[in-house]
Amino acid sequence: MTRGSLIVFEGCDKSGKSTQCKKLVEYLNNHGNQAEQWRFPERSTEIGKVINDYIEKKCELHDRAVHLLFSANRWELVPLMKEKLESGVTLVVDRYAFSGVAFTSAKGLDFEWCKSCDRELPTPDKVFYLDIPIDEASTRGDFGGERYEVSSFQKTVQEKFQQLQDDSWEIIDARNTIENIHKLLCESTLKIIENNKENPLKMTLF
Ligand code: TMP
Ligand code: MG
Repeated sequence: MTRGSLIVFEGCDKSGKSTQCKKLVEYLNNHGNQAEQWRFPERSTEIGKVINDYIEKKCELHDRAVHLLFSANRWELVPLMKEKLESGVTLVVDRYAFSGVAFTSAKGLDFEWCKSCDRELPTPDKVFYLDIPIDEASTRGDFGGERYEVSSFQKTVQEKFQQLQDDSWEIIDARNTIENIHKLLCESTLKIIENNKENPLKMTLF
């Protein structure tokens, strides 16, 4: 049995992550690879419901408390994540711990503290970062609806994302067309799946 890959998409709100995740999963499933689209926060769990209320500004929470909830929302899904990956399913994940660190540290909390609770999560095989100037993202869709969809805050988030980038990240110009980005992602992902299928999953995030 060969394992699936853990593919993570990061980027600011309205950078096109959800659109690309969906298209990539469809492509993989149509080309002989089992794949599922995941997202964090996963709003359907009990923890996720509290996060959802917070994001939709229906309740207030302490900044550290909500950070820990976002992290707990990932940890509660790790057993299922490992089971899927080990049974050969590639997971295409819309946001992960990098969003956790970028958004909370953008509020002024200590960067290393933000990283600490996600330490030793499954390590992504690739992070695709959809890069777009905030002034352009803010004109897309319903930017402005949820708690963090404020241009000035998103600019700080973007700086924090830059601090997290390393060699395992592929930076993609999100101003390109949906189809061009999709094509590039498909090619890249097929190689990642092939290159990692015999490698054990690492649990070494941060
Ligand atoms: P979404 O728009 O991808 O559903 O995410 C909702 C918001 O939650 C988005 O503004 C980013 C933020 N977020 C965090 O603050 N911490 C996290 O750990 C994650 C995954 C998302
Ligand atoms: Mg959003």
